Amino acid sequence: MTDVQSSNVQPAMAVFAASGSCLEKSAAVAQQMSFPLFDVSQLSATEEFPLLIWVDETGIGLRQSGKKAPNPIVIDFVGGALGFRGKRSSHTKELVANAVGVKGDNRPTVLDATAGLGRDSFILASRGCAVTMLERSPVVALMLGDALQRAQRDAEVVDVVARMQLHQTNACEFMQALSPDDYPEVVYLDPMFPERSKAASVKKEMRLLQQLLGADTDTGELFAAALKVATRRVVVKRPRLAPCITELKPHHVVEGKSGRFDIYNTRALD
Ligand SMILES: C[S@@+](CC[C@H](N)C(=O)[O-])C[C@H]1O[C@@H](n2cnc3c(N)ncnc32)[C@H](O)[C@@H]1O
Repeated sequence: MTDVQSSNVQPAMAVFAASGSCLEKSAAVAQQMSFPLFDVSQLSATEEFPLLIWVDETGIGLRQSGKKAPNPIVIDFVGGALGFRGKRSSHTKELVANAVGVKGDNRPTVLDATAGLGRDSFILASRGCAVTMLERSPVVALMLGDALQRAQRDAEVVDVVARMQLHQTNACEFMQALSPDDYPEVVYLDPMFPERSKAASVKKEMRLLQQLLGADTDTGELFAAALKVATRRVVVKRPRLAPCITELKPHHVVEGKSGRFDIYNTRALD
């Protein structure tokens, strides 16, 4: 990670060291984030904090507080459902790759301006794209950075994560400051979508992210900045029935089962 900037307001949080052997790492995280630290004997004392950064042998995760809360979510680019050996269907992976324009030998450079849990970035890097990942939430960026570090030690994915570069930053500011020499071919956008929170099908990871981040309210600005820097296309991921990100109609739409990708060809806008 190179730079650190402010993010949305987030709920009060604490760091929980889930085992004695994670205490040192947890203390470093607590200091970095300026959050209070609790150890394994103090679980009930964490209940005043709705969300915890949960540090255990697996890695750095996010969990609701409370003894009966579900297991933490931990980004895992190797073994998890999202990871290299995971169950995410190859059809979903194909759609993301098609949407950014992976075809034949063509591997566009991608700026993933809303990196989140890094799933889409990882798919694109697996298909050979160099991906710059931007994430403004310090908590999400912390989890992503931890996952990338773990993946760098795994022979199965080391080459893939070598193509992924993370910056903790606001993407609007990052894109506005880019020099034309560094413009990516594709900007990929998947902002938090408020309607998602009511759907029964919303996955555990997304519900926790919604609790942490709320909705992204600056998507118009993000889209405008993306159109200025993408030399080939801007791709916007949307829930299947959601309106487009602005009134501008996409040039193409790639439809999936639960979502779609709206493609704005920036060359056509010149
Ligand atoms: C729906 S999630 C993205 C999920 C991601 N596509 C994946 O595959 O895991 C949206 C993420 O974008 C981040 N985000 C939204 N607006 C941003 C901005 N202007 N700059 C940086 N990150 C942003 C949010 O903090 C959130 O983590």
